[in-house]
Formats: sequence, C-alpha cells, structure tokens
Amino acid sequence: METVVSGIRSTGNLHLGNYFGAMKNFIKMQQEYNCYFFIADYHSLTTHPNPQNLHLHVKNVLVEYLAAGIDPEKSTIYVQSDLPEIAELYLLLNMNAYLGELERCTSFKDKIRNNSENINAGLLTYPVLMAADIIIHKATKVPVGKDQEQHLEMARTFANRFNRMYDTEYFPEPHAFNFGTQLVKIPGLDGNGKMGKSEGENNAVFLADSPDQIRKKVMKAVTDAGPTEPNQVKPAIIQNLFDIMKAVSPTSNYQHFDELYNNQQIRYGDFKKQLAEDIIVFTSPIREKILEIGANTDYLKKVAKNGADKARESASKTIKEVREIIGFKSF
Ligand code: TRP
Repeated sequence: METVVSGIRSTGNLHLGNYFGAMKNFIKMQQEYNCYFFIADYHSLTTHPNPQNLHLHVKNVLVEYLAAGIDPEKSTIYVQSDLPEIAELYLLLNMNAYLGELERCTSFKDKIRNNSENINAGLLTYPVLMAADIIIHKATKVPVGKDQEQHLEMARTFANRFNRMYDTEYFPEPHAFNFGTQLVKIPGLDGNGKMGKSEGENNAVFLADSPDQIRKKVMKAVTDAGPTEPNQVKPAIIQNLFDIMKAVSPTSNYQHFDELYNNQQIRYGDFKKQLAEDIIVFTSPIREKILEIGANTDYLKKVAKNGADKARESASKTIKEVREIIGFKSF
C-alpha cells in the first residue's frame, strides 16, 4: 500500500474552506492509503512562538482534525516534535542541500521581502525539513495545494540526490496528490476569492465558531442591489454565497433561492439568514466534537502517544538504514 504524508501547519483554526478542501482529501485518503498526518510544530519555530502558545496551537490543531474526521485507528496522526528522527534526517539532508537552491525558493524570497527582520536558517532550510518529513516514511503521495509544489519538487531533488550520492534506490520520489475536481472550493464571505483566515476576520467561518458568531459573519457578507433582469449571471459576491449554500445546505434550499434570484424576487436578508442556519446545522456536530475532544485530556494523550509510537516505528527504521548507507558504524 502506498504511503501518504501530510504536514499540518500548527497555527490557525479550521474553516469551512479547509474542511471541503484538505480535510475531505485526508478523510478519503485514510480509507485507501497508509497515511501519516502530523502537526508541523518544528516548522512553526521559524516564527518564534512562545512556549505556551506553541502548545495551545498544537492541541487546537490535534483536536480539530480529530473532530473533523481524522480517524486515529485508520491514520497515524502525530506531533512532529515527538519524532527526533525527523530532526536527524533533516541534519543529514542539510549536508547536501545547496545555498543557491535554497535561496532561490519562492517561499524564502517572499519571507525576505515581507519579513526581513527575522530571516533565520530555519526559514532557509524549511524545504529540507519538509523533505525529511516526507521521506522519513518513504511516502510517495503528498496531499498539498499549489503553494507547496515547489517545496515538493525540492523534496524530490533531495531524495534523488541522496540516492545518487550513495548509489542506491533507497528513497522513492514523493508526488503531489489531490482528488482534484472532486473537491469543492469554498469562497470567502467577502467576495474576494477563497476562504482564508488571512483575508480578514469576517471572511471565514470556522468550524469552532458559535451559532451567534456564524450568524454575525454571514449577515455581514456584502451583497449588491439585487438582480436587474431575470436569469442574469450572478456577480461574484452573490455567486460566492450561493456556492457556500450549495456545499452546506439541502438542495431544496439552494433551488428555492436560486429560483427567487432568477425571478428577481430574492431578499438577501432572508437568503443570508437561511445560509447562516444551514451552516450552523452543518458545523454544529463538528463543533460539539471539538468541545468534547478538547476537554478529554486522557483521550488526547492516548492519541498523541499511539501516533508517536506508530510514526517512530517507521521513522527509526528509516534512520537506521540511512545511517548504514551513509557509513556510520558502531565500534
Ligand atoms: N509546508 C506545509 C504548509 O505550509 C506544511 C508541511 C510541513 C508539510 N511539512 C510537510 C506538508 C510535509 C506536506 C508534507 O502547508
């Protein structure tokens, strides 16, 4: 069975866009592949979180991913920093990662441009750590979005370089993977493209948002003066809200408001009220699980421990073999 690895950024809560995107991918993949999902807390140190925030963020992510559908019986879910083997492979790969190629990486150049007061070696070698994350389990499939394609290309480079250097075929090539067109893209509430937390606080509906927060955000969504002729093409800000409704609501609700729009009888207030209630119905079971799992320290401990144990089994095997290939021998 092929192996899948995906790292989850340890900051930021899950929103509807993540749910219909990455999360759906993960849930499908765990049925078919040997999946490793981990919370990338080593990576997060590049931005210097304080110790308390670091732990809170890791816990949040773990809780939300479990609540949204990662099944620890099917997948291996773990915290990256529980695997010192990753740090060791990162050190080894760093010896064959060249300054030029790291400096040319788009995400690094963006950091220099936008964040010039904290350009550390961790940022420079971020793609090396990411390669270590992936090839430590000899993964061939990595469910990531477009923004990670260059990093994945570099992971292939480092894996192939290791193989060439030691004249072996030890590491397989990891490739990007997603269910593509089957995934629904969720737009933001403000009409500016996709849902995301960096787009402003009212752009995204988070799975952990309370019903009141959801109502407030949806009612604030910008609309226009209404359709000016029957059956007209909807402008982006309106289409976006319909797209969200299509994803979360019963088909009959969607059809009802689509018809009203086409007849120029739609009242956006009613439309948004219904949308908010449908989002609440959709997210409530997940939100309840978030609250329940978040309060269950014993369960979280058990999941993290089991995940770390399973992941270490695979990682320590790789490290042992890599050490042999490199020529480290004990006396
Ligand atoms: N860089 C990824 C992101 O920002 C997170 C990540 C770290 C990752 N290590 C990984 C993703 C390994 C896939 C595989 O989203």
